[in-house]
Amino acid sequence: MADHTNQTQLAETEPTPLDMPSLARVLFGHAAFQYLHAACELGLVRMLAEHGELDKHEIAKRLGLQERANDILLLGCTSLGLLVRADGGYRLADLLTTLIGSGEWDRIEATVAFEGHIVYEGQTDFTESLRTNSNAGLRRIRGSGHNLYQRLSENPSLEQVFYTYMKSWSELANGHLVEHVTPLGSGRLLDCGGGNAVNAIALAGADPDLRVTVIEIPQSKEIAEREIREAGLADRISVIGGDMYSEEFPEGYDTILFAHQLVIWTLEENTELLRKAYRALPSGGRVVVFNSMSNDEGDGPVVAALDSVYFAALPEEGGMIYSWRQHEECLGAAGFTDVRRIPCHGWTPHGIIVASKP
Ligand SMILES: C[S@@+](CC[C@H](N)C(=O)[O-])C[C@H]1O[C@@H](n2cnc3c(N)ncnc32)[C@H](O)[C@@H]1O
Repeated sequence: MADHTNQTQLAETEPTPLDMPSLARVLFGHAAFQYLHAACELGLVRMLAEHGELDKHEIAKRLGLQERANDILLLGCTSLGLLVRADGGYRLADLLTTLIGSGEWDRIEATVAFEGHIVYEGQTDFTESLRTNSNAGLRRIRGSGHNLYQRLSENPSLEQVFYTYMKSWSELANGHLVEHVTPLGSGRLLDCGGGNAVNAIALAGADPDLRVTVIEIPQSKEIAEREIREAGLADRISVIGGDMYSEEFPEGYDTILFAHQLVIWTLEENTELLRKAYRALPSGGRVVVFNSMSNDEGDGPVVAALDSVYFAALPEEGGMIYSWRQHEECLGAAGFTDVRRIPCHGWTPHGIIVASKP
């Protein structure tokens, strides 16, 4: 198999019996994240990547921190394993050095910014979101838009954090998408809710004859168009600004892609979108679902569970990291057959499902 970027594997194990240290980590999980967030925002990780090893006074001086603040930061980062003590100084954990060397750290840092600036506060309303079966945390995002995506355009700095993250999150696994979906020859692909066109660009970049149309809400259309222009692919990727719920999908495409899309909505809404895709596709046409998946037993992977808090509390009223089987049931209800699962086997729980219209 090709060497994709999502290579820092998370060995997926059965849930382990709970002990006190693991309960304490859950209890203070929010604080653990804050150390990672601060280490990124203060530049500690990048600084140690550059210098290898520094003593605590040098770290405080370079970060501009008072001694007490520096002590707190180093206490947390060392005890959590992000840093290692060495000869009285501090260096990065080997994993972080590897991630920085491979470039994957850029994507993790983008994810940290997204979690810290967009997800974190809204998750405070998780319990309320469960009680009301609705995204109560959206109230933490300023604006009048009906959902998070509409509100992003009312908050330009959050919009930038979101699309930088979304690009990174897609790139962590979309090498698999390219491998399993292309080449489509002179095919045409419709990318529904394509964001900043990160997947359209990866697919068209790998398949010289492929033409792609991205559907995106009007507020985000320009973001997609800018990325496409910068990638030099404006002759083969176009963007329709519209609402994929209010209109039928255009015809003339042999593949319809839902990337990180069917985690946002209820299963009923997903089935409705898939029925639309079915109506628009010719016989033999394919639908591709690309997003994180939980397992059919409903007990993991843990990243799927943790990411579901965001989908419960923030973007829209429905949504979670659904199981493979739930997606397959929606596909079946919409009329698709030949349903094929393709796990991506990385530390993210990404997977791909390909199905055909008979
Ligand atoms: C989670 S992001 C995924 C972006 C992209 N597919 C990716 O994988 O990186 C969801 C995207 O769907 C878009 N979206 C949400 N509702 C939509 C609608 N009704 N019609 C078109 N696009 C929509 C959002 O603006 C957002 O860019």
